[in-house]
Amino acid sequence: MCSVVGYIGNRYCKKFVLEGLRRLEYRGYDSAGFACLNPEDNRLLYLKAEGKLDNLSDELENSSIDGFLGIGHTRWATHGLSTEQNAHPHFDCQKKLSVVHNGIVENHHELRQQLVQAGHVFHSETDTEIIAHLFEALLISHKTFKAALIELVNRLEGAFAFVSIMQDLPDTMILVRKRSPLCIGIGDGQMFVASDLLAFVKKTNKVLFLPDKSFALVRNDMIELYDFSGKALPIVIQEIDVDIDAHEKKGHSHYMLKEIYEQKNAISETIDFLKKIDSQIWSHLGISSEYAKELESISIVGCGTSWHAARIAQFFFETIALTPTKVNLASEFRYMNFFPSKNSLYIAVSQSGETADTLEAVRFVNDIKLPTIAVTNVASSSMVRESDGFLLTQAGQEIAVASTKAFSTQIAALFWLANRLALEKGIITRKQMDLSQEDLLVAAEVLENSIENYKFDIIQRHAKKYAAYKKTIFLGRNISYPFAMEAALKLKEISYVFAQCYPAGELKHGPLALIDSETPVFVFSHQDPLLYSKIVANTQEVKARDGHVVVFAFEGQDELCELADLSFVFPRVNPLLGPLAMTGLMQFFVYQIAKELGRPIDKPRNLAKSVTVE
Ligand code: G6P
Repeated sequence: MCSVVGYIGNRYCKKFVLEGLRRLEYRGYDSAGFACLNPEDNRLLYLKAEGKLDNLSDELENSSIDGFLGIGHTRWATHGLSTEQNAHPHFDCQKKLSVVHNGIVENHHELRQQLVQAGHVFHSETDTEIIAHLFEALLISHKTFKAALIELVNRLEGAFAFVSIMQDLPDTMILVRKRSPLCIGIGDGQMFVASDLLAFVKKTNKVLFLPDKSFALVRNDMIELYDFSGKALPIVIQEIDVDIDAHEKKGHSHYMLKEIYEQKNAISETIDFLKKIDSQIWSHLGISSEYAKELESISIVGCGTSWHAARIAQFFFETIALTPTKVNLASEFRYMNFFPSKNSLYIAVSQSGETADTLEAVRFVNDIKLPTIAVTNVASSSMVRESDGFLLTQAGQEIAVASTKAFSTQIAALFWLANRLALEKGIITRKQMDLSQEDLLVAAEVLENSIENYKFDIIQRHAKKYAAYKKTIFLGRNISYPFAMEAALKLKEISYVFAQCYPAGELKHGPLALIDSETPVFVFSHQDPLLYSKIVANTQEVKARDGHVVVFAFEGQDELCELADLSFVFPRVNPLLGPLAMTGLMQFFVYQIAKELGRPIDKPRNLAKSVTVE
């Protein structure tokens, strides 16, 4: 999503704001902007640029604007095209106050009409500009600045985190948070503000995460924090350690490639971590061992790639822990009929721990007082703070927008958890639990080795050929179906090639009409003999219509490979970990296709890594 960055202190801020925005570019990169108060006369100065952050930083480098109090923004467009006019910061009529914002003001339409009627002139199509004009109006109608701010935050509906600076208040930065994340890094005579602490990790490890529905007045060396009624809140400062080593590509042409290669290690670190917390696992998850033993159902929510990991994990919980499991897209879950069941557990799967739809699903379940756990990669995330318990994957920071190592570590962690639950319930023995950990390591080994096996063929022959196709179909059955969905999503995200995924058995109910020699069909096999025979039959249906087939198969699945125009063969692993074993090569193949097409792989058009709007 959008990112906001701010600074107040004893140094010029332009450099820090740009650096901070650069680190948060994963959140959006449609346009960017910067504003600060001129140190001489407190005049508001600003610059905005369409497109990637580089455009803004080039312009800023040639400009003298800088100050001791400044804000910056990168945008992921929600309201209005990604033009310079719609880029943040936005201003009031007199250009005396400026605002950068992440989120959506849901009642913007109604507020805009009221403000236009009152004579305010708007310059953008954004919901954010409403905040600046409404603040301007309220500052006139209220006796004190604080009273105006309290009314402002209560008039806005939706999810928002914004930062404002004003000519008339040159020693203060105003921060407001409702549902979207915002935090303050506390330095020596200076304060750093950002949507994600990654923006300032090199400057300080002392962080205040703004509580939900709060606002803060931030000066060089002090913070006042209030709830939306104006009541003062305690300042709780945390010390955070973040590894920023992830920000090096280490010789790889893209972060995505580097992250594909980090998977084996990340899976093994995730297993080591889980082994360490094994004996206190239930307290980690915020439930008792008795509750785990009695658990009758599991419900998992997630979005995008995390939802695919959850769909794969459904097979783990149902097959290993014999526990009925439902998986919902977080954005759908919240608007469906909800039937609370006792002895159930609600798991949110999210790389970032910040995805708005998933976070809202957690909040919804929390309100009903049912146990929630977050399976996430970010220890300092909102989901960790707001869930009853959490399980951290050890992927390390993932920079490329398309998720790779976060996905494989989610699968590893959820597989481990399903086994641990089965152990608690007396379904498997400790020895089987130990074996399941070994199985994960074996699958991780296959994940990496298979890339090595096929790397040169893919780079030298296949990538170019498959980059020429305009549309593709992906098929899987049982556990390989959600994996096929993930493969199709990866291809769409980074190469912009149209990819449609079906359960292989559904092909004959309509999609078969799409089959022709110009539409490659990617088939993901299964080790179960019965499912395999069905997959072979479905592939024959494709070949009988002159389809072009690419298969991902396991050793010994010769019949399937003989049907294929191109096949990749994997050593056999625990059948439930088939998708994990295939993950690396699938990602690598898709990556090479996107590279062949010259796509901006780490930052695909229109996307953002962390989606903090619903
Ligand atoms: C965005 C990203 C996807 C990601 C999804 C869910 O759409 O581009 O890669 O899978 O959000 O993110 P989460 O952080 O909740 O896993």
